[in-house]
Amino acid sequence: MNYTHWKQLLAGRSLPLAWVDLDALEANAQTLLAQGGNLPIRIATKSIRSRAILEHILSLSPRFQGLMCYTAAEALWLAERGFDDLLVAYPTADAAAVRGLCTQVQAGKRLWLMVDSVAHLGFLSVLAEDAGVVLPLCLDLDMSSTFPGLHFGVQRSPVRTPEAAVALAEATRNYPSLRLDALMGYEAQIAGVGDAAPGETLKNKVIQTLQRRSFAQVSQRRQKTVQALQAAGFELSLINGGGTGSLSRTTTEPGLTELTAGSGFYAPTLFDRYQHLQLQPAAGFALAAVRKPAPAIYTCLGGGYIASGSTGPEKLPQPWLPPGQLMGLEGAGEVQTPVQFAVDPVLELGDPILFRHAKAGELCEHFTHLHLVRDGEMGELVPTYRGEGQSFL
Ligand SMILES: Cc1ncc(COP(=O)(O)O)c(C=O)c1O
Repeated sequence: MNYTHWKQLLAGRSLPLAWVDLDALEANAQTLLAQGGNLPIRIATKSIRSRAILEHILSLSPRFQGLMCYTAAEALWLAERGFDDLLVAYPTADAAAVRGLCTQVQAGKRLWLMVDSVAHLGFLSVLAEDAGVVLPLCLDLDMSSTFPGLHFGVQRSPVRTPEAAVALAEATRNYPSLRLDALMGYEAQIAGVGDAAPGETLKNKVIQTLQRRSFAQVSQRRQKTVQALQAAGFELSLINGGGTGSLSRTTTEPGLTELTAGSGFYAPTLFDRYQHLQLQPAAGFALAAVRKPAPAIYTCLGGGYIASGSTGPEKLPQPWLPPGQLMGLEGAGEVQTPVQFAVDPVLELGDPILFRHAKAGELCEHFTHLHLVRDGEMGELVPTYRGEGQSFL
């Protein structure tokens, strides 16, 4: 769809608004399925943050199975609304939410809470024991690599070796209210780091080399950990790895039972930077142009939706249609965002300027609803988590 088409679609609507192009999202879903080989793909909810969109993705293929939740409270909220097969991917200290999840386990839901330390076991076991349930656990294996002078990966789990994993798994045996039956290893430095950033040829080459070496190393670590846990008598019903940016690589590893993907459905700008991944922009927002301070510059109302993580220009939203650029000294502002165009697109007061967010799910924290576009027509309006009164992180 070109700008003229979008302008017609948005005519008469209050801006700002957020949109999801379902045709693009479904094309991205097919790309992710193809990249994932034959494995099931768990949906990372943090990168979607709308129940309606989660349901839609799950309906697209039987290979989209289960949700990777980002908080215990979110998993509980989803479980209460009919979702099942919920992996809470990060440790929690939220006792009320865990109590709620214990009730869900009692009611027969499949779910797992994430652990990487004895402290997590102590906290969860007391709550599970009180509730009279055996709580299923997933062990988070660190998948970072250490190269001379460089920690290549995230700082999350301290469990770095098969031996450490077995030691923690053995410790779960001291708690009758806990049962370890899943393993997750997320290779963030491969799945979440683009290797084809524009204009950064040398850096891209370095990243590609580091990622190749890192994957060989951490994939061995994950396989050996699975083998060691199985040899110690732990039957793992779920072995999860990967993310949008690593599906084609992670799926080659023997032993994994599933992959994860979330960002690839909306395809925000950070996912334009992957050599082997061609996705279509499927979500974004439209701001109203409200003033013209100089020739070929229009200033929009709002727009300062900066992505989280280490800061840099790549975390700013990008003007998409008409194609333009943010201005270096202002960026995307809380209330005013100027956009500079190479050729004046001749906009009138209130005309939309379309933007894409750098990351996927964070867009939904700024909007109560998503306007769904299908076959070039404006369709249904569906709520985001925020639109349902929820804001988990
Ligand atoms: C544990 C875990 N798995 C998988 C992912 C991949 O998610 P996405 O596909 O949205 O990048 C993430 C993202 O941060 C994650 O934290």
